[in-house]
Amino acid sequence: MKKLKKITLHSRLYSYPVYIGYKTPLKKLSSILKTLHLGPHFVVITAPAISRLYGASLQKCFSPTVKVDQIFISDKEKDKNIDAVQKIISHLLQLRAHRKTCLVAFGGGVIGDMTGFVASIYMRGMPFIAIPTTLLSQVDSSLGGKCGVNTREGKNLVGSFYPPRAIFSDSSFLKTLPQEQYQSGLAEVIKYAIIDNQKLWNTLHTHHSQILKRVPSILEKIIVSSVLTKKKFIEQDEKDFSKRQILNFGHTIGHALEAHATYRGITHGEAIAQGMYVAADLSLQKKLCHPKTAQQIHSLLEKYGFLKQDLPTNISSYISRDKKRGTWILMKDLWKPQRVPIPPEVF
Ligand SMILES: NC(=O)c1ccc[n+]([C@@H]2O[C@H](COP(=O)([O-])OP(=O)(O)OC[C@H]3O[C@@H](n4cnc5c(N)ncnc54)[C@H](O)[C@@H]3O)[C@@H](O)[C@H]2O)c1
Repeated sequence: MKKLKKITLHSRLYSYPVYIGYKTPLKKLSSILKTLHLGPHFVVITAPAISRLYGASLQKCFSPTVKVDQIFISDKEKDKNIDAVQKIISHLLQLRAHRKTCLVAFGGGVIGDMTGFVASIYMRGMPFIAIPTTLLSQVDSSLGGKCGVNTREGKNLVGSFYPPRAIFSDSSFLKTLPQEQYQSGLAEVIKYAIIDNQKLWNTLHTHHSQILKRVPSILEKIIVSSVLTKKKFIEQDEKDFSKRQILNFGHTIGHALEAHATYRGITHGEAIAQGMYVAADLSLQKKLCHPKTAQQIHSLLEKYGFLKQDLPTNISSYISRDKKRGTWILMKDLWKPQRVPIPPEVF
């Protein structure tokens, strides 16, 4: 029997388990849902492409005694908006979903963010579980309860803090993930390795080729390690007023680059990787870190295929629209991050 790892995350609303493994989380889905007293009506929110790949196998994981409906939505970043939320809500009403109906976020971060947000507001709150299918959603976006949508003015400007009742992170989904999306998730893994996790830093160096080949045992290792790092920060500061902001390393520039590209043609991870280059350079310019530290950060990013690019000249106007503008995460050394106030006009 292959192993199933369980990590419990604690939030102000409730504690919830994250199950991690290769094929094992889905095998256990039905029995775990029963122990969590979820159901008997589930509505899976997913995208057509994900359903084509995995919809039938997910369906088989539910007990035949429960009712499972599906709602299909676009999982493109440009469609992560209030219109999509309204569409899901209308559909839920047609399906006669009620406060005990359980939503199932089945997809990457876009599906997860929208499903969580709908669950937080539909009839003043209903349960949801997450079955993340991208590396980024398994190591980052499904954890910690942040959910929401973009507005024309910027990214994730409307949302809630509302965690799922359980997360099922099955790394077998990652075998079909397009390379650019896999690499995008690796950027967040690299971020954890830089800000806090020396063990993960070492794993990224010593198991480089296995990571690129997506070997299941190594995937499980980096997912578990990433979840433990995120757990450490979100449990100390769930609402993101202080310590959790450390997780924003690389995101000030990253979010600005995504907005500049109007959320097209650049993955979240690619943008964050460029942000980490800039944050490392700025740490050096501010004499916070030794040149060797900045160099080590650059080298790890390069090792995973993120090459440094020039920033657009008008980037500061996009930085000033970011929710956390003004607070940068810089590095004093590897695993020693610091929050530093810097005005957007610096760029
Ligand atoms: N809530 C948070 O804390 C948080 C944190 C980080 C990022 N995010 C958000 O997450 C979103 C990005 O999420 P993402 O990187 O998971 O990308 P995504 O949800 O945009 O998915 C990327 C693409 O991969 C496809 N895909 C998904 N799983 C697949 C699989 N197993 N096989 C083949 N194709 C698959 C999708 O159909 C989509 O085309 C952004 O909106 C970002 O703002 C949220």
